[in-house]
Amino acid sequence: MIVAIDGPAGAGKSTIAKIIAEKLRFLYIDTGAMYRALTLKVIEQDIDIKDTQRIVEIAADLSIDLINNPDGSLKVFLDGRDVSRQIREPRITKFVSDIAKLKGVRDIMLKLQRGFGERGNCVLDGRDIGTIVFPDAKNKFYLDAHFKERVKRRHKELNVSGEDVSAQDVESDLQNRDSIDSTREIAPLKKAEDAIYIDTTNISIEEVVNKVLKEIKP
Ligand code: DC
Repeated sequence: MIVAIDGPAGAGKSTIAKIIAEKLRFLYIDTGAMYRALTLKVIEQDIDIKDTQRIVEIAADLSIDLINNPDGSLKVFLDGRDVSRQIREPRITKFVSDIAKLKGVRDIMLKLQRGFGERGNCVLDGRDIGTIVFPDAKNKFYLDAHFKERVKRRHKELNVSGEDVSAQDVESDLQNRDSIDSTREIAPLKKAEDAIYIDTTNISIEEVVNKVLKEIKP
């Protein structure tokens, strides 16, 4: 069974998806982490962000493992190396949307993500899970929140992980990513028609989790 959770950055997707996966004993797949891991490799290899062909070659050769730890945390391995922390750094966030919009990259990620989904019961979060990756999933959710609230959450998250970024920078990054993610040609961020919309601006994590759990159909 697949539970698809889509929405913009800072809407609470990964927090909620992780808890839901833990409660249901499903695998949690953070598809954004996959695009981030690719972006890290592109940056580390000093590849020009405009060199689409080379980026797609790198994507085709990528080994990504997502490991769910018993404490609920997710470890991301790129070519066997733990990159869970690096992929959240602002230098990655800055370029990830430009890499994620490439058709060749998305074709490869689509196959990988469907492959993960075929391993068994899964909660996947991302931008196009309910629309493109698993359009036939019975359980689809679209989480959203007001822009200022999403900026506040992302800023707090980055501060907690020790990144020294200003609220202004977080705001312009989110604005930029929202715009690229929702206007790109391939698989733009969009609510699937049959997804349940949840505005998380003024409700607690627990309330969102309960709303999602209540709607899940076997
Ligand atoms: O959820 P996140 O911030 O970690 O995602 C990073 C980027 O990856 C996001 O800006 C857009 C892209 N992404 C995507 O295009 N499709 C997905 N299913 C997940 C993420």
